[in-house]
Amino acid sequence: MTDLMKGSYETELVLSEKVSPSSFLLTLSKPDRFIDAMPGQFVSIKIGSGTSPLLRRPYSIMDITKNSIVLLVRVVGKGSALLASRRKGDLIEIIGPLGGSHFELKNGLNAVFVAGGTGLVPLVFAARKWTKEKKPGETHLLYGAAGSDEILADLCMGDFTEVHIATIDGSRGFNGNVVEMFQDLSERGVLPEGELFSCGPVGMVKALLDSNPASFADHHTSLEAVMACGVGACRGCVVPLKSKNGIKYRSICGDGTVFRAKDIDWKRWGK
Ligand SMILES: Cc1cc2nc3c(=O)[nH]c(=O)nc-3n(C[C@H](O)[C@H](O)[C@H](O)COP(=O)(O)OP(=O)(O)OC[C@H]3O[C@@H](n4cnc5c(N)ncnc54)[C@H](O)[C@@H]3O)c2cc1C
Ligand code: FES
Repeated sequence: MTDLMKGSYETELVLSEKVSPSSFLLTLSKPDRFIDAMPGQFVSIKIGSGTSPLLRRPYSIMDITKNSIVLLVRVVGKGSALLASRRKGDLIEIIGPLGGSHFELKNGLNAVFVAGGTGLVPLVFAARKWTKEKKPGETHLLYGAAGSDEILADLCMGDFTEVHIATIDGSRGFNGNVVEMFQDLSERGVLPEGELFSCGPVGMVKALLDSNPASFADHHTSLEAVMACGVGACRGCVVPLKSKNGIKYRSICGDGTVFRAKDIDWKRWGK
């Protein structure tokens, strides 16, 4: 758990780049008081000036530099479409950094990252931060998308020792889903032993866990859920965790977003 201070900030949109048919890379000015964030933490964004949409929308942090906060936004509905339509110079209100746990890696260990869709975002942040601040061993990204149009991994080719791409339609890289590629690479001895980190659709993370990645010391995953308060108060985003005394419920926004994959009671969570 971290005890990083969070705050509400007005930021300026410095750059918005379309990076796939549905996704935009947003660079926001970093407020002076916005403290460093950790991989797996997120910001909660006020979308419109009125009450629609009412709720803020959560977005993982992809990078933090001296002067900027970088986010990746995939358009899936009204809120994300509004966010993607914002222009250079617009002011955007954020709360952050939010989240009470984050990805961690011991110095020198290898890291294998498995991402689906925008699950790439916190994993890129982890790879960049660890490359700067730690001495990671090999870092491998396994990235899955429906087709070559939606591959976001080109944004971060230089951030990993190796990048492996899978597409469901076979238009680029491995023909199949990212977990099938993970099994294939594991069987062929391509992946180094080390720690496993994942973020993506729940089905992907469950399948990864079921694929029994025995050669990995541990597997941590960053979870997503529809959020209301974003700070652990409303209990709207709780996940059941297995514990010695039965089940305990923890909020993804306040206690997560990062949990040990095998601690999650996936059946009870019912996703
Ligand atoms: C911690 C966290 C980090 C996130 N990071 C990113 C990111 O880096 N980039 C990114 O593009 N998106 C990210 N998301 C998802 C993003 O918050 C949603 O896509 C966004 O809130 C949708 O708002 P909307 O108004 O466009 O869609 P809505 O109109 O609210 O919903 C459109 C569709 O998307 C589904 N949906 C909405 N929110 C979520 C969610 N949280 N998880 C799964 N499905 C959802 C709805 O069920 C619906 O089917 C993250 C979510 C969380 C909780
Ligand atoms: S959204 Fe309120 S507890 Fe997570």
